[in-house]
Parts: sequence; structure tokens; C-alpha cells
Amino acid sequence: MTLVLVVDDVAAMAEQYAYDLKRIGGYDVVTADEGEKALELLKSAAVDCMILDLEMPGMDGFEVLRSLERQGDEVPVIVYTGTGNYQRCIEAVRLGAYGFIDKAEPMERVIREIETVLERRRLRDEVAVLQRRLGAESSLVGNSAALQRLRESMTRVARIPSPVLIVGESGSGKELVARDLHRAGTERHAPFVAINSAALPETLLESELFGHERGAFTGASTTRKGAFEAAGRGTLFLDEIGELPLAAQAKLLRVLEQRQVTRLGSNHPIAVEARVLAATNRDLEAEVAAGRFRQDLYYRLSVHVLRVPPLRERLSDVADLSSHFLATICERFGMRPKKLSGDALQVLMGYDWSRNNVRELRNVIERMIIAADGDVLRPEHVPLEIQEQSRGMATAAGDRSFQALRAEAERQIVVAALDRNDWHVTRTAEELGLADHASLLKIMRRLNVRKEGRTGLD
Ligand SMILES: Nc1ncnc2c1ncn2[C@@H]1O[C@H](COP(=O)(O)OP(=O)(O)OP(=O)(O)O)[C@@H](O)[C@H]1O
Ligand SMILES: [Mg+2]
Repeated sequence: MTLVLVVDDVAAMAEQYAYDLKRIGGYDVVTADEGEKALELLKSAAVDCMILDLEMPGMDGFEVLRSLERQGDEVPVIVYTGTGNYQRCIEAVRLGAYGFIDKAEPMERVIREIETVLERRRLRDEVAVLQRRLGAESSLVGNSAALQRLRESMTRVARIPSPVLIVGESGSGKELVARDLHRAGTERHAPFVAINSAALPETLLESELFGHERGAFTGASTTRKGAFEAAGRGTLFLDEIGELPLAAQAKLLRVLEQRQVTRLGSNHPIAVEARVLAATNRDLEAEVAAGRFRQDLYYRLSVHVLRVPPLRERLSDVADLSSHFLATICERFGMRPKKLSGDALQVLMGYDWSRNNVRELRNVIERMIIAADGDVLRPEHVPLEIQEQSRGMATAAGDRSFQALRAEAERQIVVAALDRNDWHVTRTAEELGLADHASLLKIMRRLNVRKEGRTGLD
């Protein structure tokens, strides 16, 4: 039920409004005859919309608006005035009022105004939820040493304007790194424009990147800005740069060198302000050697390189990533949050994820959520092909350094033991044969195992 608060120093006026709003609009209505009383009421009642008289003795409408702003109270306010002085209404809107009406206006029009306000409020809340969800979904999760090193390198390059090349296997999180870099940069409110070189045919690709004038080629019926222009002072993300055809590579190099772009069919250069991030899962040096990628462009792009480590080099991240995906996927499906059992986690950590890295893990978690009836995902819910390969993995160490392998192994042992003991530190220390719980805490600190990181895992 919608609750409207009417504030007017003339009590009879407020009562009349209340009566009409109830009768015609079907709202619940409360009234107040002083600004202070209105503010007091807001504290105890969940008011959806306030109709506020601007002219009142003592604390007037403007004062009420200012107090609301100071208190960070976001109740939508419609001001009304009997004087017909619209200058004052506009001033009120500047102070945060959603709209204004004249006291003489018919009730139907007032109700329409209230409905508009409620609708706008609803949309705004929805956008806030979506943004929160987006934000939650798009930041790098994981605390392995390898990921921490990546984060450090990211902070180092985030605020410099030069191009950055992001390399890493398919599904390892390159796009996520690009988006995080954009957010951490100096122009995070400017656009983030992504162009996938692999997804577009050659002719279209160039016009997407550089724009075109009307009539530049058959079918160019309008003038169009390219991605460099669209990104403004923001970020242009060139995904799958290894797939860029040679002709486009030459043009791209020129744009990067001259910091200006010319639309196809034009000879008027436009300054480029965007920061360029490029990503590839190919070995660009090999591409250069094979003559498929221009060496000069490679040098231009590879001054700063960020390597996103494959998941098998940071298996301890599997725990944090799994809980993250469990939480987000269950929420998206509108399900009660499910949990991953300790031994299921062990199976996942025993797999090498080289096919599609984090993306593959996310898909596996999604399949497991669907496969499990209960609240706990157990080893039998792990897809068969992963179960089978996971067992074979235990001894294949690859060519990682002894130190890194040992840290990974220790972390796995500690996390698994904690998991078995419901993250009870003393009990886990006992199980592991450690002197006391302080020794385990010390080890946890060294390995960066944190209790808070376990959401959804126990
Ligand atoms: N560290 C991470 N934390 C949370 N989610 C991640 C992480 N890394 C990757 N993801 C998720 O995994 C999926 C794949 O990531 P992304 O698209 O960034 O990979 P990519 O390297 O660009 O892959 P491709 O080479 O196939 O384009 C996305 O859904 C992304 O949100
Ligand atoms: Mg990608």
C-alpha cells in the first residue's frame, strides 16, 4: 500500500487533500501541519511520497527539503504552492523536489504526478540493484599469490594513459581485468567501449573502429562515429587483437602513433583521447614471427603487459571463485543459496581447467547447482568428465616452480582441513598436529587464507 504524507500549515487543506487522495487515488494518507512534525513522522512511517507546502510559517518547505538532504533521506517530494510563483517551484526542484503542482489543480492531475514519482523511484531502485549486481559480478575474485601479483601490476598501470596488453588463456578473465582497469582509472565515469576483432567482418571492423562519413562506401547511408570517438576520454577495449586483419593493424598503428583518428571517407582528423587496452589469448610473438601480426604494432601495444594466470596456476582460487559463482548463480536463479562440500571442492581443485579456465569453472558450478536437489553440492554432482580427469591430476605438476607449487599445496591442505572442521581454528590445528591455534593462524596469514573468504563453503 502506498503511503502519502501531506504537509500543510492549513490543517483543513491537508485534510481535504488526504480525503481526496484516499478516495480517488486509493492511497493511505497521513498529514502534518508543521515542517518539524513532517520530519518527525518520516522517522517512524515508511512514507512513499510527500506532498509539501512551500509556504508555511516557521520551518517552510525549503527548510524541510534542506533537512531531508542533510539527513540523506530520499523520500520523493512533490511541492505545491498556492501563490502561482513558479520561480520558487523551480528553486525547490533544485533542492531535490521531484516535481511541483498548483494547489488549484484537479486531484486527477495530482495523482498522475504521484504515480510518475513512484514510477521514477521504482526505476531508480531497480537500476541501483542492477548496478550492485554488475559490480558484484565483475570484480576479480581470488586471493592466490598469482592473482595478488596481477592486482599489484594492475594498480601500477591503472592510471597511466599508455596502451596495456592483457594476455591470458581463454576464459581466464582478461575482459574482467580490462573492466577493472577502467574502473580504477582516472576516467571511470567515461565510456568503456569494447570491440571484438574476431566477431566482425573486415569491412565493418574498420568502420566500427574509425567511423565513416556518409557515402564512404556502399551502404554507408549515414555518418557514424567510430569506437575511438565513442570512447571519448574513457577506455577502448580491443578484444582478440590477434585476430585483427593486417590492413586494420596498419591503420590502428597510425591512430595510436598520431593520437588522432580519421573517419573512413573523411580527411578531417579527430584527436583521440581514449586509453587503449588490448587483449589476446594468442602468442602474439609467434604471430609476429609467422607474419600475421605487425611487429611495430606489437611493440606499441606491449610496452605494458598484464598476464592473467591460468586457473591451474592458482588452484587455491577455486575455493573463492566457487563460492562467488554459487552465490551469484543461485541469486540469479532465485534459489536458496547452496553450498559446496569440502570433498567436492577437492575434486574441483584437482582438475586443471585448461580448456576454458574460470569460465569453465563457472559453467561447471552452474551445472552442479542444477544437478543437486539438496542444498549441498557433493562430489557426485561434479560432471563426470571432470571427476575422471581430476583423479589423474594429482601428480602432474607441470613446470611450475617448487615454491609456487608448495604454497599452492599448503593452501589446499589448510583450506581443506578448515573446511572439514567447519572453520574452527583450534579443532583444525589439532587435526593438523600443530602446537596450538596461534600456529595455524600464523600459517593462514602467510598463505592468505581468511575466514571471511569462506561464504557459502561451509
Ligand atoms: N577472477 C575472477 N573472478 C570472478 N569472475 C571471473 C574471474 N575471472 C574470470 N571470471 C569470469 O569468467 C568468465 C570469463 O572471463 P572473461 O570473459 O573475462 O575471460 P577472457 O579471458 O576474456 O576469455 P576469452 O579469451 O574467451 O575472451 C566471465 O564470466 C568472468 O566474469
Ligand atoms: Mg574475452
